[in-house]
Amino acid sequence: MKQQRASVFASGTGSNFDVMMQDEDIANSIVLLVCDKPGAAVIEKAESLGVPTLVLDPKIYSSKQEYEKVIYEKLQSLEVDWIFLAGYMRLIGETLLSQYEGRIINIHPSILPSFPGKDAIGQAFRAGVSKTGVTIHYVDEGMDTGPIIAQEEIEMIPGETEEQLKTRIQAVEHRLYPNVMKQLMQNVTEEL
Ligand code: GAR
Repeated sequence: MKQQRASVFASGTGSNFDVMMQDEDIANSIVLLVCDKPGAAVIEKAESLGVPTLVLDPKIYSSKQEYEKVIYEKLQSLEVDWIFLAGYMRLIGETLLSQYEGRIINIHPSILPSFPGKDAIGQAFRAGVSKTGVTIHYVDEGMDTGPIIAQEEIEMIPGETEEQLKTRIQAVEHRLYPNVMKQLMQNVTEEL
C-alpha cells in the first residue's frame, strides 16, 4: 500500500498547519509546505518542525500559470498526492486544478455558500447571523466554491466579541480538518 503524500498551502499564521503536525499520521504524510507570502509565520513553524518549504512570491512571475508551474514541478518531484489549503489566500489556477482534480481540499471559516472570500468570520459577525461555522470542500476554480465534504455549525453567543468567535471557530477547524484529512487519505489507501 502506498503511503499518501500531502502538501499544505498556507499564507499566514499556520495554526491549522500546527495542529496537523501534532497528529503523527498526518505529520508523516506531509512532505512540503508551500507559502505565497515570504515572511509569513507559517514558514518558521514548518522549518522548526523540519518540514521542507517552498516559498514563492507570485508577483515575480509573469502569470499564474508560470507561478503554478514552479509549484507543480516541486510537487511532482516529491510525488505529492494531495494539496490541503490551510489559509492559502489565493485562487488555484488551471495548472494545478487539472493535475490534482479531486485532490485539492480547502477549509473555510463559514458555512458556505455564506461568506466566501476574505475575513469570513468578520463578515458573519457583522451580518448578525445566528449561526456560522466551518466548511471543508473540494477546490474548483471559484472562490471558496466546490463540492462540500464536511460542515460544522456553531451558534453565535450574544455579547461575544469577534475575537472570541474566532477562537471558537478555530477550535472547530483544528478538530475537523485533521479528521477529514485522515479520512480522505485513508479511503484512497483502502481503494488501492
Ligand atoms: C483559517 O481560519 C482558514 O479557515 C482561513 O484562513 C485561516 C487560516 O488560519 N481560510 C480562508 O479564509 C480561505 N478562504 P491559520 O493560518 O491560523 O491556519
